Amino acid sequence: MRNVLVIGGSRYFGRHLVTLLRDAGIGVTVLNRGSSPTPPGVTALVADRADETALRAALGAREFDAVIDQVCATPAHAAVARRVFADRTARYVMTSTIEVYDPATAERLRTPDPLAPLGQVWRRPVREERVDPMAWPVDHALPWDDADRLAALLDPATRYAEGKRQAEAVFASRSQSESESQSESESKSKSGSESQPPFAFVSVRSTHVLGGGPLDFTGRLAHYTERIAAGLPIEIHPAPLPTSFIHHREIAEFLAWAAAADFTGPVNACSHGELDVTELSELIADQLGAPRPRFSHGTGVAASPFSFDRYYAMDNTRATELGFTFAKTRDWLPEAIAEAHAARADA
Ligand SMILES: NC(=O)c1ccc[n+]([C@@H]2O[C@H](COP(=O)([O-])OP(=O)(O)OC[C@H]3O[C@@H](n4cnc5c(N)ncnc54)[C@H](OP(=O)(O)O)[C@@H]3O)[C@@H](O)[C@H]2O)c1
Repeated sequence: MRNVLVIGGSRYFGRHLVTLLRDAGIGVTVLNRGSSPTPPGVTALVADRADETALRAALGAREFDAVIDQVCATPAHAAVARRVFADRTARYVMTSTIEVYDPATAERLRTPDPLAPLGQVWRRPVREERVDPMAWPVDHALPWDDADRLAALLDPATRYAEGKRQAEAVFASRSQSESESQSESESKSKSGSESQPPFAFVSVRSTHVLGGGPLDFTGRLAHYTERIAAGLPIEIHPAPLPTSFIHHREIAEFLAWAAAADFTGPVNACSHGELDVTELSELIADQLGAPRPRFSHGTGVAASPFSFDRYYAMDNTRATELGFTFAKTRDWLPEAIAEAHAARADA
């Protein structure tokens, strides 16, 4: 792999990804709306990826061995990318999310796990098969291009999760026409431009990313370090269940590895080892030398970001068998906690 385009790539692990590829001797092009400077040694292109005309103009005749799409959020984004990159890349890696597995945001994920013995709660790490992009329906009736109208119809969690699920579905569908609305599809058919999948497609389903102190703009880990250091209670579900995590540099390495590999389809990305919110909080308290964390629930305040009322850990067997070596969460977490704590102290 000699030549990669990163869409996004201006903050957090997207920026690591860009510098990691560059430092490996790969030619890197970065495309975003230009709100922050690009690292030296890479080619910067400016466009809104949702604007097909602007995207084509910014790209010109450029071609890439792989595209890594860090900011694909909707099926509309995916449909544009599928058309624009059809003749420009052989491989396309979309950064997706653990939230595609969230049963709270899709009726069809609320059905019991078909593999679980009758009456048992599903407590196994989730595998990629749970959400099949080839079989996930794309809802063309939703106003994916209009953020305000979409916000009036879907809550933020559903917007995010369903946007990612349907974006994956658009990329994975057999033909462009399946991923477009009826009228677009008819006009494409008339013009004879229907196509098979234009490039090898991978969706990297990243779990919650931690580490980097001030680089982590989400502030989720800092929510814990700040409250625990101050002796304030952490709002949790009555019986919180575990989830998975990944380090910010590890997910950048994973994306670079996925771009250079030759497998296709969805792949989970998480470090080894799961933690529930109470274990996470206790580790933080130990490290900060703070008193044992206090927990509250049912106070009407939303639960803290990593508190889950369902088992929410991911299975990373597919990536491991494909050759990626994951770290252990408990090995890198102390550094991430220290960085989050220091960042708040500096703020
Ligand atoms: N943080 C987590 O825990 C987590 C977990 C799972 C998955 N993810 C996924 O990780 C991805 C984000 O990674 P990252 O935070 O490291 O970001 P990143 O690669 O740096 O991408 C963010 C940048 O993309 C650019 N951008 C946003 N909208 C754009 C548009 N319409 N057209 C062109 N560029 C646009 C923005 O720069 P400009 O303003 O200059 O355009 C923004 O700074 C997302 O796909 C998210 O779903 C994150």
